[in-house]
Amino acid sequence: MIKVFSDIESLNNFVAEEFVRIAHQSIKKRGRFTVALAGGSTPKSLYQLLSSETFKDKIDWSKVFFFFGDERGVLPDDVESNFRMANENLFAPLKIKERNIFRWQTELEKPEIIAENYEQTIVDFFELEAGNFAEFDLILLGMGADGHTASLFPATEALNEIDKNSVENYVEKLASTRFTLTFPAINNAQNVIFLIKGADKAETLEQVLEGFYEPKKLPSQKIKPLDGKLLWLCDAASAALLKSINN
Ligand code: 6PG
Repeated sequence: MIKVFSDIESLNNFVAEEFVRIAHQSIKKRGRFTVALAGGSTPKSLYQLLSSETFKDKIDWSKVFFFFGDERGVLPDDVESNFRMANENLFAPLKIKERNIFRWQTELEKPEIIAENYEQTIVDFFELEAGNFAEFDLILLGMGADGHTASLFPATEALNEIDKNSVENYVEKLASTRFTLTFPAINNAQNVIFLIKGADKAETLEQVLEGFYEPKKLPSQKIKPLDGKLLWLCDAASAALLKSINN
C-alpha cells in the first residue's frame, strides 16, 4: 500500500495515528507494544510529534518497548547516533524508562561483540527458540537515495543473513561498520512502515516500487513482510515519479 501526502506534517500525523492504533491493538492483545525505530533525519519530526501535547497522553508508554532498526558505529551520545536522535526527540521528552529501551551498545567497541550482544537481547526479550525470528509489532524504516533501508546497503554482507535477527555490517562506501536488523527479522514484523521524504528519493523510489526486482542493488525491494502489513508513506516530492499510488 502506497500513500502520498502533500507534506511531511500530514504524513507524520497519519503515522502518529497509525502508531497509536497499532500500540493499542498490541497492548490489548499481548500486554505490550514492540517497535523498532528508524534512524536518519526523516523520522525526527515524527518523534517530536509523538512526544508532543497532541499525542503524548494517547499511549501507556510503560508498555512500549523500543528497539532500533539500525545504528551507526558511533557512541550513543554522538551527533550521528540514531539512539541519540530518538532519545532527544522521543525518550527524554516522554520520560521513557531505560528498561523500555533496547539500543545497540556501541560502547562495547568490537563490532562482533556489539552485534552478538544485541542479538542476545532480542532472543532473550522475545524468548526465541533457535531459528525463530522476533515478531515486532511495528518496524519504522527510511530509505536512502541508494535504495538502502535500515543499514542494509547495496552489495553488503548483511543482505545475505538468513539466521540472525541483527548483525554488524561493514559498508565500504561509508568506510564504516553499521548495525542492522536483517531481512528475516524485518519481514517477520506485524507492521512495517516506510517513511520517505524529499525529491532526492524520487528516482530511487520509482525504481524500487515500479522497476525491475534487483534487491542486491535496491535492498528496500526485499522488504516484504511474510504476513504483516507493509505501508509506503511518501511526501509528494519523493512520490513525484510514481505511476501508481493507492491514496
Ligand atoms: C540511518 C537509517 C537509514 C535511513 C535512510 C534515510 O541510520 O541512516 O536508519 O536507513 O533511514 O538513510 O535517511 P534520511 O531519513 O536521513 O533520508
